[in-house]
Amino acid sequence: MYPAVRPRRLRRNAALRRLVSETDVRPRHLVLPMFVHEGVSEPVEIPSMPGVLHHTRDSLRRAAVDAVRAGVGGLMLFGVPTRRDASGSAAADPEGVLNVALRDLASEVGDETVLMADTCLDEFTDHGHCGVLDDAGNVDNDRTLRLYGEMALAQAEAGAHVLGPSGMMDGQIGAIRESLDAAGFHETSLFAYSAKYSSAFFGPFRDAVDSQLSGDRKTYQQDPANGREARREVELDLAEGADMVMIKPGTSYLDLVRQTAETSPVPVGAYQVSGEYSMVEAAAERGWLDRQRTVLEMLTSVRRAGADIVLTYWATQAARWLRDEPAGDESAGDAS
Ligand code: PBG
Repeated sequence: MYPAVRPRRLRRNAALRRLVSETDVRPRHLVLPMFVHEGVSEPVEIPSMPGVLHHTRDSLRRAAVDAVRAGVGGLMLFGVPTRRDASGSAAADPEGVLNVALRDLASEVGDETVLMADTCLDEFTDHGHCGVLDDAGNVDNDRTLRLYGEMALAQAEAGAHVLGPSGMMDGQIGAIRESLDAAGFHETSLFAYSAKYSSAFFGPFRDAVDSQLSGDRKTYQQDPANGREARREVELDLAEGADMVMIKPGTSYLDLVRQTAETSPVPVGAYQVSGEYSMVEAAAERGWLDRQRTVLEMLTSVRRAGADIVLTYWATQAARWLRDEPAGDESAGDAS
């Protein structure tokens, strides 16, 4: 007649819910991706990503300080150059926009946070691919590896603590590790974008980096249909020396975050990408979703799936919400 087991007992007030909450999101779990743009003299909002800016060198420093003060765990920097060529040569140029900005951030916040850099050529090539092209117009894996090695050196020299190779070339972790070690950068870590899918959710990012790409990245990024393949990519990256591994995108790929977290001997990250950000921002702007609750629920879900680290454009904002959260608030874990 009466149910003997009543799960609702543990949900009846905020104190009980707080006590039995399984998953925490803390500011330290969040990494903020940022864009520095060589061609802007004022910070400019990225049209498809409301609230995310193309930074000048100065505004980047200020936003980095804000993020660090809010308590985020790290920063992931992307550069948007004004000069592009077939081999993306500005990527390895110490005076290239990304390397200059890395030096700025290293001196501004380098002692207080983890400074990460995107190690990929797509922002720097005039064709927009993540690697160089051969005569037939295909991305040439092994020539690209050499360039990644050079780019990685420039980033390590500029003060990046962690490099995020995101181009999905075979052997990229091994090649970059070898290049770094040969130059004495044994301490520079590699956060491998191990399983990165050819995703429509990257759409707004193409705006964010003024992408020159026509076509797609299906010959190097993974097919969204393939989950098992993520295991193989993670295994390869670990064998090649990855210090941390990442799944990307986040929300639609939580099965792979879980799969990876269950076996990975190294920390696991998930990248909540531009499309995930923009969808929520667009709906919130129309009043269709509660922005704060939605964002915190998404971050909690990524953590619940097993991610140690979440890369998110909401990092600074979310860190402030999490810090200000009163004890007993049920939305996202403890408030110590
Ligand atoms: C490529 C890169 C991309 C993103 C991060 N690094 C775009 C792509 O692969 O097409 C996407 C990030 C996002 O959508 O937020 N270097």
